[in-house]
Amino acid sequence: MALVNSTEMFKKAYAGGYAIGAFNVNNMEIVQAITEACKEEMAPVILQVSKGARAYANHTYLVKLVEAAVLECPEIPVVLHLDHGPDFETCKACIDGGFTSVMIDASSKPFEENIEITKKVVEYAHAHGVVVEAELGTLAGIEDEVKVDAGAASYTRPEEVEEFVSRTGCDSLAIAIGTSHGAYKFKPGTKPQLRFDVLHECEKKLPGFPIVLHGSSSVPQNYVQMINENGGAMPGAIGVPEEQLREASRSAVCKINIDSDLRLAMTGTIRKFFNEHPDKFDPREYLKPARANIKELVRHKLVNVLGCNGKA
Ligand code: G3H
Ligand code: 13P
Ligand code: ZN
Repeated sequence: MALVNSTEMFKKAYAGGYAIGAFNVNNMEIVQAITEACKEEMAPVILQVSKGARAYANHTYLVKLVEAAVLECPEIPVVLHLDHGPDFETCKACIDGGFTSVMIDASSKPFEENIEITKKVVEYAHAHGVVVEAELGTLAGIEDEVKVDAGAASYTRPEEVEEFVSRTGCDSLAIAIGTSHGAYKFKPGTKPQLRFDVLHECEKKLPGFPIVLHGSSSVPQNYVQMINENGGAMPGAIGVPEEQLREASRSAVCKINIDSDLRLAMTGTIRKFFNEHPDKFDPREYLKPARANIKELVRHKLVNVLGCNGKA
């Protein structure tokens, strides 16, 4: 199967009460780990590339890595998505350069400005068969070089979503219900809880419309411990409980973004490897177990969190 956009995927996910995993890719090992797990579990997948990933690995390398995965995994549909597109120019470069889906993230701008920028991207994207994710509400945490403090984050206002979607023509909408980017999502000692009331209000206002959750890593404590036991220092790293993500995936949430968990698995595995083998220096020797652990983590997400296994 060639690269596809997410229109059909989201229709099936909405009707079937599951979500598609959207995993960030920055290098070959991560692309391989994700797509091998999806192929073995027959799960549709969204591979997403941030502005930072394009700066790190180069647009062409990333597109070609994803195209290689499509050739290796012809059984599953794959979307190539721009994550947190900061402006029209970046979205246009990705639309012109082979992406099948883009996000325009103007969520930090005032409502009218967000509409104006999003609408411009939608017009260009739709003319090229590419779909658009937009965002209303602000998540806390760090994405690319922008850090949003918890105090400055704001939940999506359900009374705004209908007007936003109808005026912009976007194809899916990321909302803020208490998730955040990175590995420190909730204060230690507090009970992590997503605002399902906000989600359900948005869902009611937009019947049949796909909702997206960003910042949905669960920060697996086995990898936090592996990092801390092997020279790292990540005290108080806490993520979104997986049961809450499973519950969200049964609703209008059709796309769930997971990046930090894969980074933790990779870093933990490599730290442990070096601790146990201080004499080794062949990158293949430490990237191989890292890739294997990411693959198993993605498999766990597909089966136990997203419920999208067997849906390709
Ligand atoms: O939300 C952001 C994603 O985790 C990508 O992170 O900007 O460090 O590539 P990045
Ligand atoms: P995490 O930092 O929770 O993995 O979120 C990833 C994300 O939202 C990418 O857009
Ligand atoms: Zn995000």
